[in-house]
Amino acid sequence: MTSKSAEVTVDLNRCMGHARCHSLAPAIYDLDDEGKSVVILDPVPPELVKEAEEGAQACPEHAITVRYQD
Ligand code: F3S
Repeated sequence: MTSKSAEVTVDLNRCMGHARCHSLAPAIYDLDDEGKSVVILDPVPPELVKEAEEGAQACPEHAITVRYQD
């Protein structure tokens, strides 16, 4: 459990619309009209960072980066 918030970014050149991020963490990842991931919480508050990471790890394209903030 972390007490830090995080900045989450999606590399749209990598995102292929698998939507696993959105399925696992819909509070953080939405999908745009093309089915690509959109981060809707910036920054992600500490209580949701674990969920953000689970969504990131589930992406088969490794398109999502989670950076902890100081
Ligand atoms: Fe894209 Fe990966 Fe999510 S391909 S829609 S960032 S699971």
